Amino acid sequence: MPRLHINVDHVATLRQARRETFPDPVAWALAAEEAGAAGITCHLRRDRRHIQDADVENLRNSIGTLLNLECSLDEEMLAIAQRSRAQAFCLVPENRQEVTTEGGLNVIGEVDRLREAIPRLGETGGLVSLFIDPDLSQIDMARELQAPFIELHTGEYAQAQGEERMATLERLASATAHAHNIGLRVNAGHGLDYENTAPVASIPGIEELNIGFAIVARSVFVGVSRAIGEMQNLLKDLSVKS
Ligand code: PXP
Repeated sequence: MPRLHINVDHVATLRQARRETFPDPVAWALAAEEAGAAGITCHLRRDRRHIQDADVENLRNSIGTLLNLECSLDEEMLAIAQRSRAQAFCLVPENRQEVTTEGGLNVIGEVDRLREAIPRLGETGGLVSLFIDPDLSQIDMARELQAPFIELHTGEYAQAQGEERMATLERLASATAHAHNIGLRVNAGHGLDYENTAPVASIPGIEELNIGFAIVARSVFVGVSRAIGEMQNLLKDLSVKS
């Protein structure tokens, strides 16, 4: 069963909607840990639309599991990441106009910046992963750049229906197998919810799922503990069946 890491960005989205001090993503993260989250993820975007610099620091100082900081290859973000003491980093593409991270990093197109960024963040002791689409040539390049981890972008799978969904799931499974064969460790996330997570969690070798929006949204109705518990139960049921 993959570990469940929770992305708290959208707790901050709600707070920033009113430029308030609540709801506090740190308090929400602590409740998520209490409910069984194995790690906490946040994305500090250049436009600071949700997570703020102080949230990164406060999360790192408060949570008891580990902090996975998502950031772009922008110099300002890399410098913050380097100072953050986060235990893990996920390098993501970022586009100001997008509602959310729309696709994976173009590892091949960003070779030069990644050649610098991966060891730079790795030297802090944090594990570096590259958020990429399930594309074998991108995966091969991630290996060449000596990234220890990739996080497969599950957004296309999450959006697809019917046969197309099966095809996207197959691509995720083949990409995971390929990445393992060449020595990469694999996480996955984006767009996962209570209905579509089980098939991804069943792919052998995916170590960690990063899930945010669906769980934060569910917590509005049922509270943090139950929202996390329902996802944990779904993952536990899979491990009983397998
Ligand atoms: N993984 C990465 C790298 C992401 O950028 C995001 C979204 O910020 C997620 C996982 C979580 O996606 P969602 O909020 O759709 O669950």
